[in-house]
Amino acid sequence: ARVPLPTNEPVYSYAPGTVEREKLKEAIKEIKSQQIEIPLIIGGEEIKTGNTREIVEPHNKSSVLGVYHVAGEKEIKMAIEAAMEASKKWREYDWVDRAAIFLKAAELLSGKYRYLINAATMLSLSKNIFQAEIDSACELTDFLRFNLYYMQKIYEEQPLYSPRGTWNIMQYRPLEGFVFAVPPFNFVSISGNLPTAPAMMGNVVLWKPASSSVYAPYIFMKVLQEAGLPDGVINFIPSKGSVVGDIVFSSEYFAGIHFTGSVDTFNKMWKMMAENLPKYKAYPRIVGETGGKDYIFVHKSANTKKLITAIIRGAYEYQGQKCSAVSRVYLPKSMWNDIKDELFSEIDKIKMGSPEDFTNFMNAVIDEEAYKKIVNYIEYARSASDAEIIKGGGYDDSKGWFVEPTIIYTENPHFKTMEEEIFGPVVTIYPYEDDKYVETLHLCDQTSPYGLTGAIFSEDRDATRVALDILEGSAGNFYINDKPTGAVVGQQPFGGARASGTNDKAGSHLNLLRWITPRAIKENF
Ligand code: ALA
Repeated sequence: ARVPLPTNEPVYSYAPGTVEREKLKEAIKEIKSQQIEIPLIIGGEEIKTGNTREIVEPHNKSSVLGVYHVAGEKEIKMAIEAAMEASKKWREYDWVDRAAIFLKAAELLSGKYRYLINAATMLSLSKNIFQAEIDSACELTDFLRFNLYYMQKIYEEQPLYSPRGTWNIMQYRPLEGFVFAVPPFNFVSISGNLPTAPAMMGNVVLWKPASSSVYAPYIFMKVLQEAGLPDGVINFIPSKGSVVGDIVFSSEYFAGIHFTGSVDTFNKMWKMMAENLPKYKAYPRIVGETGGKDYIFVHKSANTKKLITAIIRGAYEYQGQKCSAVSRVYLPKSMWNDIKDELFSEIDKIKMGSPEDFTNFMNAVIDEEAYKKIVNYIEYARSASDAEIIKGGGYDDSKGWFVEPTIIYTENPHFKTMEEEIFGPVVTIYPYEDDKYVETLHLCDQTSPYGLTGAIFSEDRDATRVALDILEGSAGNFYINDKPTGAVVGQQPFGGARASGTNDKAGSHLNLLRWITPRAIKENF
């Protein structure tokens, strides 16, 4: 049997009157009434350490959804042992048997557990229903199904030529050791993909979910168990980064890291791996996606209606907490005056509040630390002489961590908010002289160290081609007349280079290839 090229999981509308909407409401009720206690899962066993952290709703800080247990040194060492024990059998599983487990997980996730994981995502991450649906229900399911398809291609296709009298084989083996999966808070799909992609390829994993996103990943961990994932293949260990990092990176069994998060953390990890290198059996695989300073670049021929929608959606969906979010816009000076009022009136229509009110487009930012960081950037712009807050700029943490959709205007292309990642609903507009298109493209390319996503808005093919060339290294995911967020698995494999990471493209054969170690075998007849 062959796995056919999958199609993307359909996105449900949750429109009033639909069965799906009622089921989701039920799931929200269930989560709010139960006060969950989330254990570690090591070697298939639930472990409670007694060291717990509260899970609160970011849009309603006084509402506690439950607690999760935090792993200490002892449990992290146990997880390494459990993983290495599980590895003995798991690495010998035929790939079709591994595939069956993850295919079943995809069915459970997009079926029986769809509403529960969406509800947990909405409440614990403050995501509206659409953002939860495209993340936890759809993208995570897509990661599983498409990765299995790419995995099949890797195992089935022999790239080698065998002259008569010989038989040449490329054999793909799992890594010798465990993989450490360290995801961010903002996407449950990324949190779930980081452990499952290496596991699919026969590896065992220690999975440390982000401390502000444990609830929905835990539901996914239970899904994997129900789908038949053998004990110890993936070990779920919420823990403090510094504690787990010290133990993992100094383990002789450490074989690779699958990371999404900040540049600082990735760089620290890279150094720790370098220091511990002599302990490892092999050079570790280092796969990481870090930040972005993503842009929309506008040519004078752009369709302004499409552009306004792209700015609103790209900058403010999920409160701008996407590594791909639009955070700087370059547009011709003459156009700015034409679109300003319409852009502002679209921003005025944005409703912000709890995700339980399905009409809210924006919700709260994840926690106090994120809130303070964003507020600092807003205040910096407010007091700067070479920038101005021309829309929004308000914030309020009395009930939850709310920040208004904000626009900063500057004629200084190197203003701080044109260069640094904010990870919030703040976009900076830089108007360029109409006759400086090419110069400004070069400026855009060289302004930030990142290279994650970007977009050109242009109805002029020649202008588009010039932008494609000049902006080549500045975005691993580049969009023409579309917002630079919302990459779809199987359609736009995701990742960037420069300071944005190793560009191993989540949800593609390129990523899966990092989790195997090939052996070329020649037999003479
Ligand atoms: N993959 C996510 C996006 O494209 C981050 O928006």
